[in-house]
Amino acid sequence: MPDDQEIHRGLEGVIVSESKVGSVDGLKGRLIYRGYDIETLVKNSTYEEVSFLLVNGELPNKGQFSEFLKVMNDGIKLPEKLVSFIDRYAGYSHPMADLRSAVSVLGSEEHESSDLTPDQQKDIGLSIIAKMPAIVAAIKRKWEGKNIVPPKSGLSYAQNFLYMTNGSEPSRDEAKVMDTCLIIHADHGSNASTFSSLVTISTLSDMCSAVTSGISTLKGPLHGGANEMALKMIKKIGTPDNADKAIGDMLARKDKVMGFGHRVYKVYDPRAKILKEFARSITSKSGKQNLFDTAEAIEKAMISRMGDRGIFPNVDFYSGMVYESIGFPENMFTPIFAASRSSGWVARSFEYVKDNRLFRPRTKYTGEVGPREYIPMDRR
Ligand code: SDX
Repeated sequence: MPDDQEIHRGLEGVIVSESKVGSVDGLKGRLIYRGYDIETLVKNSTYEEVSFLLVNGELPNKGQFSEFLKVMNDGIKLPEKLVSFIDRYAGYSHPMADLRSAVSVLGSEEHESSDLTPDQQKDIGLSIIAKMPAIVAAIKRKWEGKNIVPPKSGLSYAQNFLYMTNGSEPSRDEAKVMDTCLIIHADHGSNASTFSSLVTISTLSDMCSAVTSGISTLKGPLHGGANEMALKMIKKIGTPDNADKAIGDMLARKDKVMGFGHRVYKVYDPRAKILKEFARSITSKSGKQNLFDTAEAIEKAMISRMGDRGIFPNVDFYSGMVYESIGFPENMFTPIFAASRSSGWVARSFEYVKDNRLFRPRTKYTGEVGPREYIPMDRR
């Protein structure tokens, strides 16, 4: 048994593949998709255009974009069996569990098989990206005991997401907030859920399975699940005056403060900067200033204690109050993240499988080497 390998717990710092999709500079606080800074895309682009960019490599021209929008609009409608599945089974567990099962059902429904070409897998991936808001919105409606709202033609991805979620068309501002959230969550290097998707597609499995793996991995509180827990924590702390002591106590107990810290960013997450400004403006208009002030006091308490160790707010700290303002309850925050991240999972899985190499790392064995004598059960 060879014992010649250094262990990289959590694959920290290990480069496992090449990608042209996007990159995170954790020391400069810079996030790029295909060379475009995230701030540039937020200012000028839309989630549909960003999805095209991530999956196809370049921004679309007019013709390519209208063709892409047609694919997205045709793809948004959910198959009847999936609607029945959501209607029957959603609403009892966490919405992320519902979402994971729903995308899995989509795989059976679309007769996914492993003998498809990468381009065919890409088409299935685009159909998943198109359907994610419809699935997430249907799960949310089911959770609230309301009827499922089918998509409306002529609306953008973000507008339709909110229309299917709330049953009415959003204002321009609400749609812009939604679109921005979708853009900034779409891709983020070799994060755990994207890596999961790559491992799955590397076995030549299929795109629905890759996305299902991504959803399963995003669910955890150390990853996408942190957004829901962060807002719960902010609300529990309740006022800015409580923040310093609450954070001091949490750190003394070695609790993790949700929405802070990052494996790659050792400076302020650029997405958190964008979300913080949205949160500030939304809460001041909606009379929820106290919530924002509490969050800001938590941030101050954390940075004063942990900033010198490179721990700052991440994407999950301020997103919850933004999502809440556009009609989503706490348990839907991670499903929204998943809907957006489906573009990254699909883009990177498609890129990877074109030049595929099965993921198969090794583990250092630390158990008994033996050979041990087998003792029959009645003598143990
Ligand atoms: C996302 O990878 C991506 O790109 C992910 C993501 C994406 O877009 O895909 O950006 C989305 O997942 C954001 C992260 C959401 N998770 C949380 O907010 C959960 C809280 N954060 C942490 O648990 C932590 O910061 C991680 C898991 C995010 C990353 O941490 P690492 O690299 O695994 O670091 P670590 O847990 O080993 O921490 C190092 C030290 C520890 O202290 P010591 O044992 O050395 O004394 O820093 C401390 C930790 O206890 N620490 C924290 C902390 N984060 C790190 N202490 C309290 N609260 C925190 N949030």
